Amino acid sequence: MASSRATARQRRSPLSDDAASTRQKRAAAEAAAELIEDGMRIGLGTGSTVAQLLPAIAERGCSGLRCVATSPATELAARALGLTVQSLDEVGELDIAIDGADEIDPGGWLVKGGGGAHTREKIVAASARRFVVIASAEKAVRKLQPPVPLELLAFGVKRTLLALDPAELRDVPRSPDGGLIADYLGAIGDPVELSRRLSTTPGVVEHGLFAPELVSLILIAGEGGVERRTGAKPDG
Ligand code: 5RP
Repeated sequence: MASSRATARQRRSPLSDDAASTRQKRAAAEAAAELIEDGMRIGLGTGSTVAQLLPAIAERGCSGLRCVATSPATELAARALGLTVQSLDEVGELDIAIDGADEIDPGGWLVKGGGGAHTREKIVAASARRFVVIASAEKAVRKLQPPVPLELLAFGVKRTLLALDPAELRDVPRSPDGGLIADYLGAIGDPVELSRRLSTTPGVVEHGLFAPELVSLILIAGEGGVERRTGAKPDG
């Protein structure tokens, strides 16, 4: 069911593999790692920016950290660095969650889920007193663009995709929780309205639009340093 339209995801981040982008991801990750203190319960996102975050947290040498991972890849990498990883239900409320994003608009809306982990990421972000987004400069956009990642229930997925038209399944579509990963490919327009539509379509487990109310702080690293944008979620 996947087609060439899915390559929009790759076209969106032309700088994502180059040295400048990696340097910026590292700078944003290091700025976020400075927020980590002894004994914190930390939510860890997924992706190449979070891959820069994990060693930065480990290098802090804080004691008593307990981490919750949003994907098997993050869990594996965190454990390899000696970080303690437990389930969200074991840890409960988190002091902080830190994650990357695919797009960040000027109003603080995010598109997430390039790695298909947005359902777990949204649960973890909502479980954290403080949710911090880390990104390289290319992720800051004037207006959000599709695709918007989706996790769909397998039952009746063809009907769900029809209701969401235009939307398509990805080539490797299963989440670790058994959901089917897809992308909504239509115009985003008003993210409030699209978010409502996606959330109320039967069969949609979760979508990758994150509202500003979920986000406490956004750290965007560019060539001139790390820009800090305050989100709409109060630090709790
Ligand atoms: C994974 C995500 C990632 O945070 C998002 O795709 C950004 O990834 P990267 O840091 O590799 O650019 O939402 O589901």
